[in-house]
Amino acid sequence: MGTAIIILAAGKGTRMRSDMPKVLHRLAGAPLLWHAMRAGEQIAAERTIVVVGHGAEAVQASAEAQNEDAVCVDQTEQLGTAHAVLQAAAPMSDFEGDAIVVYGDTPFIAPATLEEMLALRAAGTDVVILGFEAKEPGLYGRLIMEGDTLLGIVEAKDASGEQLSVSLCNSGVVCANAATLFSLVKSVGNNNASGEYYLPDIVGLARERGLSTGVVICEEEETLGINSRGDLAAAEAVFQSTARRDAMEAGVTLTQPESVYFAFDTVIGRDVVIGPNVVFGPEVTVETGAEIGAFCHLEGCHISAGARIGPYARLRPGAEIGPAARVGNFVEIKAATLAEGAKVNHLSYVGDASVGAAANIGAGVITCNYDGVFKHRTEIGDRAFIGSNSALVAPVNIGADALVGSGAVITKDVPDGDLALARSAQENKAGLGKRMMQRLRALKIKGAR
Ligand code: UD1
Ligand code: CA
Repeated sequence: MGTAIIILAAGKGTRMRSDMPKVLHRLAGAPLLWHAMRAGEQIAAERTIVVVGHGAEAVQASAEAQNEDAVCVDQTEQLGTAHAVLQAAAPMSDFEGDAIVVYGDTPFIAPATLEEMLALRAAGTDVVILGFEAKEPGLYGRLIMEGDTLLGIVEAKDASGEQLSVSLCNSGVVCANAATLFSLVKSVGNNNASGEYYLPDIVGLARERGLSTGVVICEEEETLGINSRGDLAAAEAVFQSTARRDAMEAGVTLTQPESVYFAFDTVIGRDVVIGPNVVFGPEVTVETGAEIGAFCHLEGCHISAGARIGPYARLRPGAEIGPAARVGNFVEIKAATLAEGAKVNHLSYVGDASVGAAANIGAGVITCNYDGVFKHRTEIGDRAFIGSNSALVAPVNIGADALVGSGAVITKDVPDGDLALARSAQENKAGLGKRMMQRLRALKIKGAR
């Protein structure tokens, strides 16, 4: 039997002071919501339900962009976490396995922790709660234990002085058989200090029904929830330091780890060397042995084995850099393929293009891909050589082994092996350079200027 993940994401997030729903704020380049959804993916959840409310349309669009099979249910009034879970009852009515409830604003719950909860469920515990030892228990719900048995969860607002002294707290993550979960959630009332339907109340209700309840304990860091911009920045720092450590443990050299920023989905092979101040946006893969120099900005690109990028290069979505290719300083590549060993070393823009194997693109070459309305492609053949400061006005093809003289404006195709010259012819006036200089110097002495 499979597992379903139910993500609560209806809350407003008042303390973000934002016009955007809280779960759409980005951590490591992805909306907070996606981090929770990815945890579900990593435990191979068969069904993903997202409970939306504030900014429902935008949250739903984001959920479907991450997983087109995600089902969003509306919680039009936020009456509490149990009420939120109840909204998932209809789309879950045919689901026979276990359900895990997580929060959309809590991005760090590890898949291994969820697996541990599922294992306790599989071993026969009916309701499994994820707890943690809080350094500052504050407003967290307290887990009331008797030995290893979880008796109930008390919200801080409703707790006695003695209960408040408990430091084992509720993370909010719950795992139970789906049918059991919805049956329990239906019986939750709202007779408490907040007048809300509390999901944690299912623990007490489960015990009244003679069901078993248990706790899995995780590190407090995993339960970190984002409520403010400060929390978001702190979470980013946590994400980045973990990503840097993981990269180094996987065999990546970071010469100055604290200045490298990874995205949630960055994939980097062994023996890649990354210099200082490199930023990875979403969807970047770097293969074994590639080198990324200082101050590069990479997004939506694939860098093959042994390629060398930067320093100061910008790779935008659709950049496909072939094996041992070279992209040098102040070069921007967008939606373009560089085949094996191709070189674009200095001050270039290559967009909507393909560059053949071992082709050499000189300094300052620009593919003019945009006519103000449409985008057009530039195709450059194997071993072609494009002289410096040339403009290739797309759509245009430069053949294999073709040579384009420096300073060209190329508007017509260049056949394989041809030399294209497209600039005004040079004229030399005998001795005139020297004579002109002498005249200018003489004028200066006279004080004419
Ligand atoms: C909840 C738990 C508390 C736990 C804490 C951990 C309850 C009653 N309390 O408290 O025991 O220690 O989390 O962080 O569950 N949400 C909805 N719809 C609602 C209410 C909430 O979707 O009607 C979502 C929120 O957007 C949020 C999550 O559920 O992502 C948690 O809600 P929140 O109000 O923050 O719960 P806490 O009071 O923090
Ligand atoms: Ca909260």
